[in-house]
Amino acid sequence: MKKNKISKDWINRQRRDIYVRQSKIEGYRSRAVYKLKEIDEKFKILNQTRSVVDLGAAPGSWSQYLSKKIKNGKILSIDLLKFEPIKNIHQIVGDFNDERYKTKIKNYFDDKIDVVVSDMAVNTTGNKNLDAIVTGELCLEAMKFALDTVNQKGRFVSKIFMGSSFNEIVANAKKSFKEVRVFKPLSSRKVSKESFIICKFLR
Ligand SMILES: C[S@@+](CC[C@H](N)C(=O)[O-])C[C@H]1O[C@@H](n2cnc3c(N)ncnc32)[C@H](O)[C@@H]1O
Repeated sequence: MKKNKISKDWINRQRRDIYVRQSKIEGYRSRAVYKLKEIDEKFKILNQTRSVVDLGAAPGSWSQYLSKKIKNGKILSIDLLKFEPIKNIHQIVGDFNDERYKTKIKNYFDDKIDVVVSDMAVNTTGNKNLDAIVTGELCLEAMKFALDTVNQKGRFVSKIFMGSSFNEIVANAKKSFKEVRVFKPLSSRKVSKESFIICKFLR
C-alpha cells in the first residue's frame, strides 16, 4: 500500500474514533489514556499509591492521568522522546534499557516504589511477529526492573503483544507476583495484538 494511502486511512480512522474525540475534549494528549483508565478502574492499581514510574511515557497521556490521580506523591516518567512538561511529573529523556537511566530512576525515589507502568513500544514495522518480539523484550525488561524496585504490595502493568514471547512473560510474572491477569481494554484497537498484563503483590 502506498504511503499517502496509509496516512489517509490513518486520518480517517482517527476522525471516526470516539476515544480520539474524547481525549481532545478532556485535554489528554493521546487516546492511550483510556487504556490506563480502564485498567485502573477494573484492577484498582492506583489505590493507596504514592510513587509511580511511567515507562515509555511520551506524549504523556498516562502521566497526565497519574498526575490527576496522585496528589501527594512522586511520579517519574521516562521516554526516548521529550514531551511537554506535566504538573507533578519528574521527566527523564533517555533509553530505559540503558543501566544508567535505571539507576537514575531508582535514585529519584527514597524507598521502594508502589507502581511501575509500561506502555513502551517501538515503532511498528508492519511485521506483527517481529513487533511482538521487540515489545515482549521491553515488557520483560520492565518486569525485571519492577521486581527489583517495587515494594511487597507493588503493582506492575505493561503492554504485551500476543506473540511468541507471550507465554514466557505470563509464566515469569506468575513466578514473582501473587495476582496476574491479562486484559485487553475496550479502548485498545481490535486490530491490534496489544493487551496488558496486570501484576499485583510480590510473592
Ligand atoms: C505507545 S507510546 C506511549 C504512549 C503513552 N503511554 C501516552 O499515554 O502518551 C510508546 C512509547 O514508548 C517509548 N519507548 C520505546 N522504547 C523505549 C525505551 N527503550 N526507553 C524509553 N522509552 C521507550 C517510545 O518512544 C514511545 O513514545
